[in-house]
Amino acid sequence: MSEHVLIERNGGVLTLTMNRPDKKNALTQNMYGSMADAIVAAQQDPAIRAVVIQGSNSCFTSGNDVGDFVNSPRSDTKTPVYHFLRAICNAEKPLIAAVNGPAVGVGTTMLLHCDLVFVANDARLKMPFVNLGLCPEAGSSYLLPRLLGHLRAAELLLLGDEISGQRATEIGLANRALPAGEAVLEAAQQAAQRIAEQPPASVKLTKQLIKQGVAQIAEQTMDAEGAHFTELLASADAREALTAFIEKRKPVFANQ
Ligand code: COA
Repeated sequence: MSEHVLIERNGGVLTLTMNRPDKKNALTQNMYGSMADAIVAAQQDPAIRAVVIQGSNSCFTSGNDVGDFVNSPRSDTKTPVYHFLRAICNAEKPLIAAVNGPAVGVGTTMLLHCDLVFVANDARLKMPFVNLGLCPEAGSSYLLPRLLGHLRAAELLLLGDEISGQRATEIGLANRALPAGEAVLEAAQQAAQRIAEQPPASVKLTKQLIKQGVAQIAEQTMDAEGAHFTELLASADAREALTAFIEKRKPVFANQ
């Protein structure tokens, strides 16, 4: 359990709230572990019909804790982060995301595993893996081009540029953009409650049918990405980029 993840049930809806405001909801191993356990347990609990993943009314998540990247790098795919990624990849019950403010790194890639995504108009989605000397994760190197086409996926991954919630909706990365704040969280809750009132067997089968084959390839991709990611985390470029963030300075990459 992590004190930084709030877990609440309301009727058939389980809501996971990332709650580490002083670090912009940066995800620690404990937070990944708590969310993974809750999602896995929800699959076995007939009373839970949908799962909402949210941050606050001003921040979704700044992604993986940068200090953790430096101090306790992912050594293999048995760590809590992969437990979480596999849980969202293989969830049979609908996952609904509510995104306000920053959604960095895994904050954006986790959305690729969700079934409905509500964003604030001015949400800030960004996947700066290359900028940090890293590579895509969470199956995003397969899921993102599948969803957006190669050119848009390449633009987002190679440049690591930030896009707004409005833009995310235009390119198919989110369902609906709303005024920032409570409206986004409410839209996600309403959609989840509507799903929770639908016949559960049909909901389950429909999700399974529309994702047929996808989860399997995404999981294989995740394993391949994970091996590269682990290697890159130990590289001089990644160390420099991550240390520069912690030291609040611009990174300087050496000639090779
Ligand atoms: N890991 C650890 N700490 C983080 C963090 C992260 N991913 N993101 C933010 N923080 C910390 C900051 O260091 C700062 O801590 P401090 O108050 O002790 O100095 C605090 O959270 C607030 O962050 P700040 O950068 O001042 O907020 P902002 O509103 O100006 O910017 C972000 C918000 C999310 C855009 C910016 O923090 C950011 O880019 N974070 C890094 C994201 C990242 O690279 N994640 C990994 C992706 S693979």
